[in-house]
Order: sequence, then C-alpha cells, then structure tokens
Amino acid sequence: MQTTAPTKVIYDTDPGVDDAMALYYALAHPAIEVVGITTTFGNVTVAQAATNALYLTAIAQRDIPVTQGIAAPWGKHGEAPPDHIHGADGLGNLPSRLPTRNRLDPRSSAQFIVDMARAHPGEITLVAVGPLGNLALALALEPALPTLLREVVLMGGTVLEPGNVSPVAEANIWNDPHAADRVFTAGWKLTMVGLDVTHRLILPVALFKRIAEQQRHPATDALLHAVGFYANFYSGLYPHVAQVHGCFGHDVLAFLVLTHPHLFGTETGRVRVAVDGLAQGQTMLRRKRIDYPQAGWDDNVGDTTVCMQVQADACREAIEQTLLGPWLTR
Ligand code: BDR
Ligand code: CA
Repeated sequence: MQTTAPTKVIYDTDPGVDDAMALYYALAHPAIEVVGITTTFGNVTVAQAATNALYLTAIAQRDIPVTQGIAAPWGKHGEAPPDHIHGADGLGNLPSRLPTRNRLDPRSSAQFIVDMARAHPGEITLVAVGPLGNLALALALEPALPTLLREVVLMGGTVLEPGNVSPVAEANIWNDPHAADRVFTAGWKLTMVGLDVTHRLILPVALFKRIAEQQRHPATDALLHAVGFYANFYSGLYPHVAQVHGCFGHDVLAFLVLTHPHLFGTETGRVRVAVDGLAQGQTMLRRKRIDYPQAGWDDNVGDTTVCMQVQADACREAIEQTLLGPWLTR
C-alpha cells in the first residue's frame, strides 16, 4: 500500500512515441502525480506535441493542464521533425482519433513551470524528455528556479554509448545544445538519463500487445499502434532490436529513476555541452576531479548525477506490471 504522498511531477515532453509510453507509465504509477504537461518541439512541432499531450490525457480520462512551449532551438536553426521515427503525427500515424474536449492552458510552458514552482516550493520534480528550451526559458524568467524545484530528471545525452544523431550526440541535446548547456550549469539537483542506459532497455511490441489485450482501452490501443510504428524504425536500424521486434524505451527510464532508483548505477560530475562544431550536442562528463586549464570546468558549475548502468530486465518487468495495473477506467 502507498504510504507516502506521490511525487508531484511536471512532465516536459515532445510526444513522440516513447514520450507517450513514459506518460502512461507515470499516470499508471501510484508514486507519481503528474501535475502538468509542458510541451516542446522535437519529435514533432510544438503544436502537434501539445495536440498529442491533450489527446493522450483525454483518452486516458485525465484532466491535467497542458501547455504549449517553445517552437525552435535557442541558438541554431531547427530541423524538420523526424516523421520516419515517430510518424508525421508523432504517434505512429494513428488511423483515427476519438473526439476529445481537453483544452490547452493558455500559459507558455516556461511560465507554467515557474508558476507551479513558486506555488509549491521544494515540491515539484521536473521530468524533461525533449529538447530543453522550456527549462532554459523558465530559468531566465525565474533565476531562483533551482531552489524552488525539488529536482530535475532529464532524458538526454550520452557519455560512453555512441550518439544517435552523430557519433557523440543524442537527439534531445543536439536539438537545442545552448538550452541544454544552460540546464546542465543551472545548479539544481539534476539527473541525466542518457543513451548509456536507454540503449540497454529494449521493449518488444509483444509487451504492449499483452497490455492492450488485458486493458481493452483506447489509451493502450493507441500506445500499441504507436509502438508498432516506432519498433519498425528501430528494428530496421539495429539487428538485436529486430530480433524481438521492439524499440528503445528512452523517455520512460526518466520515470523509472524516480520509482526504482535502485535499478540504476550512477556517476556524479560536471556535465557540459558542446554547442557548435562537429561535436555539437555532445555531453561531456568530467569523470575525474582534474583541475583542467580549459575554462568552463570550474567548481562553480553544479554536478550532475549521470545514469551509467541499468538493470534493464527489472525495468522492463516494472513497466509491464505498472501498465497492466488498474490505472484506466472505462
Ligand atoms: C530521445 O529523442 C526523442 O526522439 C525521444 O523521444 C527521446 O526523448 C532519444 O534520443
Ligand atoms: Ca522525447
């Protein structure tokens, strides 16, 4: 039985198939209370991200504030959304959508984050699983944000695992490297969940089929459809993923860090982001306390806890059991 109050989470997201999976995990888990969804560009345009967040919450019968955030990176030109990975609609090209009535909260994503942090000082955890422009803007609006939030967990970056948009860069960081470097140097309690762990978690389509068959609900049907599309992309790219016809779970692991921290091995150190050049979007972790002569590694930059190992089988089991639970009503 749940004895402590659930963790209040603002979910900053660009849904996105794995973003949808992570949202439903969070809604299904009794230790998490999603108090707002702030959207950003990334896997889709920010307008489509907001539409998807409204749709995913509506069909799961949840009325959670959803805001629309920034539409483009801070310091470079934006790229076209990766339709071939998430579908042109971000949810694997759903064949149809049910009519829904949820409406956007009129505030910007950054303003919503600031308002909620001020209203609940020390209580809100920010889970960010897209490019980080909303967080960077929120920091500009409220410089005290790092002391007002409880902690920040982000899916992005990589240390030892090869990148997914270049040999060294992960997509969320590469999509807005200037915002990401601002986030890594803000001085809040920060955990990075990058490809070092997310590339260990392969989720077979069969898992989502079992969930959809048991739940018999539009929300888990939509998720199964979206995951099928996403798995086709990953299975075409990686033979070991094709073996199980699956996909990487990426964003859902940002919530597993909150609900199952014991399943992760971490290292702590300063993280900086390369903002331009061939290494653009690289997350560099200072793994040894060396007093480097190069500027930018001084002790006044806060440390990040970086996830480097994960017990993937236990995570997969926790995801399945959570999504099989009684979180949906008819
Ligand atoms: C990250 O990029 C997006 O495509 C996914 O939703 C995830 O947040 C993985 O690199
Ligand atoms: Ca994402």
